[in-house]
Amino acid sequence: MRLPITSLWVLAATASISRAALLRDFLDIKADYDFVVVGAGPGGAAVANRLTEHSKTRVLLVEAGGENDVNLDVNLEVPLLCTRLTPMTRYDWNYTTTPQVNLNDRVLPFPRGIGLGGSTAVNCLVYTRGSRDDIDMWAKLSGDKSWGWDAMLPYFTKGEKFNLPVDGRDVSGQYDPSAHGTKGFIGVSVPGAPRGIDDRVMATTKELPEEFPFQKDMNAGNQVGVGWVQALIDRGVRSSAKDYLPAGILKRPNLDVLLHTRASHVLETSRGSRDFRKIVLHNVQKNTNRTLTARKEVLLAAGTLSTPHILMLSGIGDTKELAAHNIPTLVNLPSVGKNLTDHVGLGVRWRVNSTKTYDTVARTPELFDALFEEWKVNKTGMMVDTSENHMAFLRLPDDSPILKEFGDPSPGKNTGHIEFLFQNGLYSRTPEGNFLSVPVANVSPLSRGAVSLSSSAPFAAPLINPGLLAAPVDIHILRHAIRSARRFISARAWDGYILEPLLTAETDEELNAFIRENAVSFFHPVGTSAMSPKGAKWGVVDPDLKVKGTKGLRVVDVGVAPSLPAAHTSAPAYAIGERAADIIKKSWNLVV
Ligand SMILES: *[C@@H]1O[C@H](CO)[C@@H](O)[C@H](O)[C@H]1NC(C)=O
Ligand SMILES: *[C@@H]1O[C@H](CO)[C@@H](O)[C@H](O)[C@H]1NC(C)=O
Ligand SMILES: *[C@@H]1O[C@H](CO)[C@@H](O)[C@H](O)[C@H]1NC(C)=O
Ligand SMILES: *[C@@H]1O[C@H](CO)[C@@H](O)[C@H](O)[C@H]1NC(C)=O
Ligand SMILES: *[C@@H]1O[C@H](CO)[C@@H](O)[C@H](O)[C@H]1NC(C)=O
Repeated sequence: MRLPITSLWVLAATASISRAALLRDFLDIKADYDFVVVGAGPGGAAVANRLTEHSKTRVLLVEAGGENDVNLDVNLEVPLLCTRLTPMTRYDWNYTTTPQVNLNDRVLPFPRGIGLGGSTAVNCLVYTRGSRDDIDMWAKLSGDKSWGWDAMLPYFTKGEKFNLPVDGRDVSGQYDPSAHGTKGFIGVSVPGAPRGIDDRVMATTKELPEEFPFQKDMNAGNQVGVGWVQALIDRGVRSSAKDYLPAGILKRPNLDVLLHTRASHVLETSRGSRDFRKIVLHNVQKNTNRTLTARKEVLLAAGTLSTPHILMLSGIGDTKELAAHNIPTLVNLPSVGKNLTDHVGLGVRWRVNSTKTYDTVARTPELFDALFEEWKVNKTGMMVDTSENHMAFLRLPDDSPILKEFGDPSPGKNTGHIEFLFQNGLYSRTPEGNFLSVPVANVSPLSRGAVSLSSSAPFAAPLINPGLLAAPVDIHILRHAIRSARRFISARAWDGYILEPLLTAETDEELNAFIRENAVSFFHPVGTSAMSPKGAKWGVVDPDLKVKGTKGLRVVDVGVAPSLPAAHTSAPAYAIGERAADIIKKSWNLVV
C-alpha cells in the first residue's frame, strides 16, 4: 500500500517529535546539567521524571541500552509473552551467576534488562510490595522510620495507575481499592481474562482455609494468603518504567535522555575532595567517551548489580578487594556489593486431565495466532495477563520444627516464608500433555551473597554470587514449600483434574537432591548498596541515599533496600525512586 505523501510526512513528524529528547550522541547533549542519572530502570526513570517537574532543574538520564521500541518488537508489550524477552536477548545484560555451591555448582542465567525501562521492560510483571513487616524492616535497619510502611505507602501509591481489568468483570472482593493509587504512571491491574484453574484455586481457599486462607489484597500490609495476582499491566498492555518517560514528559526542555551510553566510574571533582560529581561515560554505538560534571549530584540507578560495580571501579568499596585489582581506594566501604539477597525456588508440576491449559495453545499455531490477533485488535483474551491469575504468600505454622530449630527468618507475621504462583500450563512448548505448574519460592531467605569485581576493566561483567541456599534454614523452607503445594493440590477441588505428579521425590533426602539440581534464582536481587544509619560501621548509603564518605553522589535504585521484602522487586524499586526524588528535591529546595 502506498500512503499519500502528506500522511508520510505526518508520520515522520510525529516520530521525530515523540523521540525529540531521546538522544544518541554526546554531540547532542547540553553543556551542563544539575543531575546526571545513570540507568533508566524504575529508580532512574522515576527520579528523572519527578526532578524535572521543577522546570529549572536540568537532568540528563543516561541509559546503557536502546529504546526497547515496541514498534520493532511487539513482544515487549504483550504481558503473556514476557518469557520471550530474556534470557540472552538484546534486552538482556546476559549475566550468569558464579557456580552455586549449594546447587551442585550450577551456573544460572541471571537476566537483567538493558534499555529504557531496565528490568521492568522484560520481567514477568507481578506487582507485590512486600508486607508491612518487610518495609518496617527497612526503617529498623536504616534507623529511620520514614523508610517504614506507613511513610512509604504514599510512595507506593503515588507512582501507581490502578486500572480495571479489560474483561469488565465485577472485581469487588478481588483487591482493596483503598490501598491503591490511580493517578500515577505505572499501570497495575488484576487479571483481565479467566484461566481454566481459577475456580479450583479459589475453591481450595474455602476448603483448606487454615493453611491456605483467601487474601483479598497482598499489597495492603498483610500479604499472607492466596489471592488474585496484581500485575504491571495497563488495559492489557505491559507497563514498565518507560511509562515514567512518555512523550509528554520527554518533551520537557530540562530533561534529556541519552541512549547507548554506559557509565564506567565516577571521579572526584578535585583530588581529595571526595566530591564525586564527575562521571565517565562511553557511547557504545559511536565509540566515543565523555566526562561530565553534574552541578548538583550524580545519581546512580544502574541497579543492584551494576551500581556497586560502578562504585568499586571508582575506588569506593572494600580496600582489600579493590587492591586485588590494583584500584586505589578513595573511600573504604566494605559493604559495597555485599549482602546480595535473592529469592530461590523451583517449579512443582503435575500432568492434568484437561486440554484447556497453555500447553495446548503453545503447540497449536492457529490457536496461538487467534489469541495474539485478539490481543492486537481488541486488547482482550489470554494474552492480556502474565503467567498466573493467582498467587500465594504463606507462612510455616508457628509450631513448625523448622522455626523451632532455626528461629523465624521472616520479619513478622504479616509476611510469607514461601510463595506460590498458580500457572495453568508450562510456558514452554511440549509435544504432548497438559500441566499444572506451581513455581514455589523461599521468600524470606537468610542466605546472602555478593557482587564483586572480576577485573578492573570497566565493562567486564561483575561476579554475581547470590549465595543461594547458603544458610541451612533455606532448603528446609523450600522443602516445606513443595510439600505445602502438594497439600494444596490434594484438596477435593482438584479431584479428577490431577493425573500424576512430575515430581515424585518424597523423603527429605530425595527432595534435597531435587532442589539442589533444579532450584533457580527468582531474579529479585537487592541489598548491595544497603542503607544503614548515619555513622554505622556497615552499609553503603545513609538514609538520605548519599554514599557514605562522599559528596554529590547518591544511589536511587532498589539495591539500597537493606533487606529483601517477600515481593517481586519492581514495586519496591518504583517506591524507592519516588521517595528518592522527594528526598533530593527537599535537600535542594526544589519547590514545584
Ligand atoms: C546479549 O545477547 C544478545 C544475543 O546474543 C545480544 O544481542 C545482546 O546484545 C547481548 N547483550 C549485551 C548487553 O551485550
Ligand atoms: C573509552 O573508554 C573505554 C573504557 O575506559 C576505553 O576502553 C576506550 O579505549 C575509550 N575510547 C576512546 C575512543 O577513547
Ligand atoms: C549485612 O547486613 C546486616 C544487616 O542485615 C549487617 O549487620 C551486616 O553488617 C551487613 N554486612 C556487610 C558486609 O555489609
Ligand atoms: C474484537 O472484538 C469484536 C467485538 O467484540 C469482535 O467482533 C471481534 O471478533 C474481535 N476481534 C478479534 C480478532 O478477536
Ligand atoms: C478426566 O475428566 C473427565 C471429566 O472431564 C472424567 O470423566 C474422567 O474420569 C477424568 N479422568 C481421570 C483419569 O480422572
